[in-house]
Amino acid sequence: MELASARHLLSAQTTEFLDRTHHQMLIDGAWVPAASGARIEVINPASEEVIATVPAAATQDVEHAVQAARRAFESGPWPKLKPVDRQRLMLKLADLIEGQAQTFAEIESLDNGKSAAIALAVDVGQAIDVLRYMAGWATKIEGTCTQVSVPYMPGAEFLSYTRREAVGVVAIVIPWNFPLMMAVWKLGPALSAGCTVVLKPAEQTPLSALMLGELIQQAGFPPGVVNIITGDGRHAGAPLVRHPSVNKVSFTGSTEVGKLIGHAAVDNMTRFTLELGGKSPVIVLDDCDPTTAAAGAAQAIFFNHGQVCCAGSRLYVHKKIFDRVVADVALIAEQMPMGHGLDPASQIGPLISRPQLDRVCSYIESGIEQGATLIAGGQRSDLPGYYVRPTVMANVNPSMRIMKEEIFGPVLTAMPFDDLDDIAAWANDTPYGLGASIWSNNLSKVNRLIPKIKAGTVWVNCHSVLDPAMPFGGYKQSGIGRDLGKASLESYLETKSVIIAV
Ligand code: NAI
Ligand code: MG
Repeated sequence: MELASARHLLSAQTTEFLDRTHHQMLIDGAWVPAASGARIEVINPASEEVIATVPAAATQDVEHAVQAARRAFESGPWPKLKPVDRQRLMLKLADLIEGQAQTFAEIESLDNGKSAAIALAVDVGQAIDVLRYMAGWATKIEGTCTQVSVPYMPGAEFLSYTRREAVGVVAIVIPWNFPLMMAVWKLGPALSAGCTVVLKPAEQTPLSALMLGELIQQAGFPPGVVNIITGDGRHAGAPLVRHPSVNKVSFTGSTEVGKLIGHAAVDNMTRFTLELGGKSPVIVLDDCDPTTAAAGAAQAIFFNHGQVCCAGSRLYVHKKIFDRVVADVALIAEQMPMGHGLDPASQIGPLISRPQLDRVCSYIESGIEQGATLIAGGQRSDLPGYYVRPTVMANVNPSMRIMKEEIFGPVLTAMPFDDLDDIAAWANDTPYGLGASIWSNNLSKVNRLIPKIKAGTVWVNCHSVLDPAMPFGGYKQSGIGRDLGKASLESYLETKSVIIAV
């Protein structure tokens, strides 16, 4: 749907934001263009229309942003703020986002293609919750007071304690699947800990971060505490994560780029958190009601059109109920209404970009070439935009590319199993380890399986359920470190040991 004909569906604030054709980026409290003057086009994946342009940051802009973040970290009002002041600013920001929730949801829908209703409930709702949860930690950062012995200094007395100190300037590089939510998952703990930030949203979805920047200013964060640069990975992301004045990189995205970042980080001993790809199994045991399991499995893969790092992309069903469950998932897939995200009836929206559409379709083709059977979907849509029908494939085996590689689209592979011991091994037969779900009410079987699954999160009778208080991250090649929860806050803090001879 063309933007001109969708305008009546948008709030006045969204229209006003989109009418600013010349978006700028936020460096040191000022809205600025890229030093080169270059810009990138922002595309609505539902219509392939250019809806805005943003600055294309490069090395010089990265330099300005990192210097601003460094200055704000070392001097000025930010390091003097008390924890309660950081908490207050963060709570204010959460309130401001809440006040603009509908606008954020609409911007996210136009920029990413996702449903505005889902964006309101999930993306924006979680961003607000995470900020409030992380704001609470600012006043609860504490070290230890430890009785030391130092036996080689008989008679000496010491007072020893640890301090937790903000790690410094944080580079946040995020993907396009949950743009606002990913930004806040990382901004929240960084600001709570007292760090300063340079945030680079994905080049495909920069708009909600820029809107967030406006609210960060309104909330009263001092200049330079949060800098937001727009640009692509090669020209803006790479120089940012390699910058020697960056103390920590927090990244969510592909495993390939995550590895590049990890290698570069070690050169400067930059701390890093990497949340990377996944190939998460959905395991349905024989006692499960097939209808419930099918609804759960469909939700696990088709939510956000499969563009979810923990999407349940490999379905394993006990052979007793395999045919029933797979037929039901296929039926759900066939019946899902497809359309742009401003239509409340639409359940499957477009993929993020033409390259992503091509990539997903080439996986479907490779599956068919390698002998898989298409049970549902498999085709591009003839709508304008980057649509592919929700797809279910059976007759798969572990050597197929569709069973091994992250597809990041609405494509499910389904395989029967017989033996509980086999299933743990099959579920783990992937380089990834982000999430897994088990569907059963057999307590003993479920609890025997949980410790065997090599994944950062195991869900039981649900999938992709996230909460600000529960750490989220990967085993194996799904990453290092955790977002969310206290574990996330810890990763933005250094530990300083203090030993005082008294
Ligand atoms: P990507 O990893 O290239 O992009 C993620 C972010 O990293 C973007 O902000 C990008 O500008 C930045 N970036 C890219 N190259 C960089 C570099 N050399 N240095 C620093 N930053 C860099 O992911 P892309 O190309 O958008 O998607 C490719 C595949 O990655 C997807 O098909 C999917 O399999 C996976 N992916 C996983 C995500 C997750 O949530 N774990 C999110 C997005 C993509
Ligand atoms: Mg876009």
